[in-house]
Amino acid sequence: LSVTCSWRGPLENDEVNALHAEAFGHAVLDDDWQAQLERHSLGWVSARDGEALVGFVNVAWDGGVHAFLLDTIVAASHRRRGIGRELVAVAEAAARAAGCEWLHVDFDDELAPFYFDACGFTPAPAGVKAVVRA
Ligand SMILES: CC(C)(COP(=O)(O)OP(=O)(O)OC[C@H]1O[C@@H](n2cnc3c(N)ncnc32)[C@H](O)[C@@H]1OP(=O)(O)O)[C@@H](O)C(=O)NCCC(=O)NCCS
Repeated sequence: LSVTCSWRGPLENDEVNALHAEAFGHAVLDDDWQAQLERHSLGWVSARDGEALVGFVNVAWDGGVHAFLLDTIVAASHRRRGIGRELVAVAEAAARAAGCEWLHVDFDDELAPFYFDACGFTPAPAGVKAVVRA
């Protein structure tokens, strides 16, 4: 793997916005990732191939023993090389080091082999509800 994964590695907003848009198929947004991550997350993991950002995962936190993975992303050009698994492993180690006892994630059915088999998560019922203002 010529790619380096870093816990809380520096990120530019533009590169995260570009990666997110590619991964989830939407227009490139202008989100202030740096501010959101610093203010609300336990941390994040970046993956770089040279200077290029090719992977990211956000580790949200309740301030106690629960951490939550959000936006696990590997650039399309770099998938199926084990980078996603490594992003999650670095996130898991950092959550453990911060005193967390549980790491949560939710995802669509098609990613069950990634999270259950490759990353070692256990299936558990979960719920989600849209709470956007009508
Ligand atoms: C999900 C994602 C992060 C996986 O990243 P990746 O670097 O390709 O994953 P890895 O190479 O570490 O995969 C390890 C194993 O997980 C499984 N896996 C990975 N991606 C998979 C997929 N899309 N469907 C089914 N199984 C998958 C495979 O068993 C794989 O091993 P193999 O390549 O030897 O078959 C990447 O596909 C991605 O960014 N997708 C778009 C964004 C997204 O939907 N993120 C999830 C949000 S919950």
